Amino acid sequence: MSFDLILFGGTGDLVWRKLMPALFQAFRHGSLPANGRIVGVARDDLTNDAYRSLIKSRFDGVELAKRPTDEEFARFAAMLSYLRMDLSNPADYPRLATKLDEHTADTVVMYLATAPSLFTTFCEQIAAAGMSRPNMRVVLEKPLGHDLASNMAINASVRKVFSERQIFRIDHYLGKPSVQNLFALRFGNALFEPLWRREDIANIQITIAEELGIEKRGAFYDSTGALRDMVQNHALQLLCAVAMEPPINAHADAIRDEKLKVLRSLRPWTPETLRQHVVRGQYAVGTVDGAPVAAYRAEPGVGPASNTETFVALRCEIANWRWAGVPFYIRTGKRLAGRSAYIEVNFRPAPHAIYKSPIGAANRLVIHLQPKDGLELHLFAQGQQNRMTSQSLDNQLSPVQLDLDFDKRFGSERVGAYERLLLDVLDGRLNLFVRSDEQEEAWRWVEPIMQSWAADPEGPRQYAAGTWGPSASSAMIARDGYCWTEEC
Ligand code: BG6
Repeated sequence: MSFDLILFGGTGDLVWRKLMPALFQAFRHGSLPANGRIVGVARDDLTNDAYRSLIKSRFDGVELAKRPTDEEFARFAAMLSYLRMDLSNPADYPRLATKLDEHTADTVVMYLATAPSLFTTFCEQIAAAGMSRPNMRVVLEKPLGHDLASNMAINASVRKVFSERQIFRIDHYLGKPSVQNLFALRFGNALFEPLWRREDIANIQITIAEELGIEKRGAFYDSTGALRDMVQNHALQLLCAVAMEPPINAHADAIRDEKLKVLRSLRPWTPETLRQHVVRGQYAVGTVDGAPVAAYRAEPGVGPASNTETFVALRCEIANWRWAGVPFYIRTGKRLAGRSAYIEVNFRPAPHAIYKSPIGAANRLVIHLQPKDGLELHLFAQGQQNRMTSQSLDNQLSPVQLDLDFDKRFGSERVGAYERLLLDVLDGRLNLFVRSDEQEEAWRWVEPIMQSWAADPEGPRQYAAGTWGPSASSAMIARDGYCWTEEC
């Protein structure tokens, strides 16, 4: 198979931090079809060689095991070239057409790693220049729009030019091996399914915590915030993966239909739940990993009075037969006490005690997404010899855990999220991409939160960098009698 992969935003953060390393890994693993071109597109005036050198220099920031040797890079770089182009300028599109005409490709992928404000212009110009072809696929990075209306407008303009099977809306969390394993756990094993319901599960917690701040993305982040950057997409997609019904088969639409149903079943917000069940925070000065770090408002590109949230915690419910009444908690934030992402399924305690169990004892399944990729099943066991009495066993049970580390089991050289997703685009596999109706439903659900914040003069609660966010987040979950993992 031959392909052209056109990376718009070719000198941007995403391309050098994620896409090029992923493409290189695919190349190293031998999974990238040999007859392909990767074309970086940006406004800078660069030659092909200058672009290759730029990309090579960026690999210095990649972990050692994933860095190319000079010889490997030379072979990889033979696929790379550069095109200077301003996506917002119609006069530049004929040059793109000429570039495409230079190579006969079975598949042409247009990867828009750019601001979403350019998506509509791009589609209009591709149509106006008569460049759209059935073998073209378009990849759209999140966040797709700023709210429901802008999301629908972008989707409408993309659909005028491309059919739904040509549109790959990326959410890289779906490409993470741990998320694949969540699907495998749920739909490749029958063990947990009978327990995966309100009768046996007390609550589910989804945490995506980052130690990093906003790095050099101040301007982007300040107009985005954690709700749009992480909750509307990554966190809700994880929620869907954990709460959806088993799909009838593994086809893209069967999976996406089930995810959509979860989003549609999210209990709508009321003024009361918006007040009680949503916490927004923003980091103040603090210490991360032993080093002092600046407050969000002092970050480059951020104003001193910014009310953009860098932390969100919320409680939601899925109103259907399986989940009615089970609280789902989501929290995500920057500059938190650690980098970790996991889904915690807290089962109900044993219905009748014949042992002295530790206080609050209940089984727990933790699906670790990162940095560890694995499963932990928390159980109780008898560590010491018990003296049996007539009423109860004398000793307390001890918490123990079954621990499955997928990196150790399968090797850490597994296919990463972007590598997997890029190969899926080349193969035309849509299973791990988001359909427009899912996205719209997710926007529809988060919009009342955005509106309530816009009308709230208090702004986000400050939290010291290097902590687990504002104390209101703990208070919110404590009201239900539960706690976040690190507090239990
Ligand atoms: C991106 C967000 O989508 O995901 C970033 O824009 C965030 O703000 C990143 O840091 C987190 O991804 P990962 O894979 O490092 O958890």
